[in-house]
Amino acid sequence: MKVSLIGVGLMGYAMAERLIASGHQLTVFNRSTSKAEPLKELGATIAVSAKDAIQEASVVILMVSDARAIEQLLFTDGQVNLSGQTIIQMGTIAPSESIEIQKKLFKQDCHYFECPVLGSRNEAREGRLILLVGSSKEKFERWLDFLKVFGPSPRWIGDVGKAAALKLALNQLIAAHALSFSLSLGIIEKNEVDVDTFMTILRESALYAPMYDKKLSNWMKQSYENPNFPTKHLLKDVDLILDEVNNKGLSNEILQAMRNVIEQSVNEGLGDKDYSSVFQIINRLK
Ligand SMILES: NC(=O)c1ccc[n+]([C@@H]2O[C@H](COP(=O)([O-])OP(=O)(O)OC[C@H]3O[C@@H](n4cnc5c(N)ncnc54)[C@H](OP(=O)(O)O)[C@@H]3O)[C@@H](O)[C@H]2O)c1
Repeated sequence: MKVSLIGVGLMGYAMAERLIASGHQLTVFNRSTSKAEPLKELGATIAVSAKDAIQEASVVILMVSDARAIEQLLFTDGQVNLSGQTIIQMGTIAPSESIEIQKKLFKQDCHYFECPVLGSRNEAREGRLILLVGSSKEKFERWLDFLKVFGPSPRWIGDVGKAAALKLALNQLIAAHALSFSLSLGIIEKNEVDVDTFMTILRESALYAPMYDKKLSNWMKQSYENPNFPTKHLLKDVDLILDEVNNKGLSNEILQAMRNVIEQSVNEGLGDKDYSSVFQIINRLK
């Protein structure tokens, strides 16, 4: 299939590799062209504008930072003819933002649905993402086989907005786990308790989450290079979750406190590092 992918940052690049490896004819567009260039050698065509990428395609995937970027690409940067096109939005945005984009695209006779993902670069490259689809049931069934390129079992969550909401609920747990585990690890270290003993007991208990082991070496080495999910995007997501919590009348105290720590991490220059960098702030390691 002729696929266009807009946004080849950390996730988009890995998704591009996956699409090419699966035999799709891929065109990519990225605002900073240099990030897309290496994909040329793998067989992708590099478009000079989002408009060109969209016109080339049977389907367009969006994998950019946020809704503002989507607005700019589709509605601000020149006139893009979207009539008859299908756009699949795979980044993490708010339910209300996704619904708004759908409305605008519907007016232009463009088919839109959301498909936020759980998992990161390796899962994208290897087709192991968890895909959450917000669309009509009919559209889900129409695109199911194609979506399986990114993950074996895409799940239909409900109409546009529902999958975006589910994704925010999951990412709230990323923030909570990262911060909470950092604090526990801090207690262990400051009391000179053996970390291996702590981990062994934790793994045997109902409290364990696999992400603790995934990030443990970052935390132990205090090294947050080569991020899968950068701290700045965790802050972006927590802001989306805070809006959601406030709009729905849920308690925001815990989330606000988490936000403060993540924001400090970004302010201290760790925005482009892995989100496990929140450990630095929690444990006041300067
Ligand atoms: N990383 C993960 O593990 C992960 C997992 C699941 C979901 N997500 C979500 O997936 C999305 C992409 O994440 P990522 O990690 O790939 O982020 P990233 O590496 O920061 O890439 C962001 C992409 O958005 C583009 N972009 C940003 N602002 C733009 C604008 N105003 N106009 C045009 N393009 C713009 C960037 O272009 P430039 O290169 O020109 O800056 C880049 O292609 C985010 O919503 C993120 O929350 C990430």
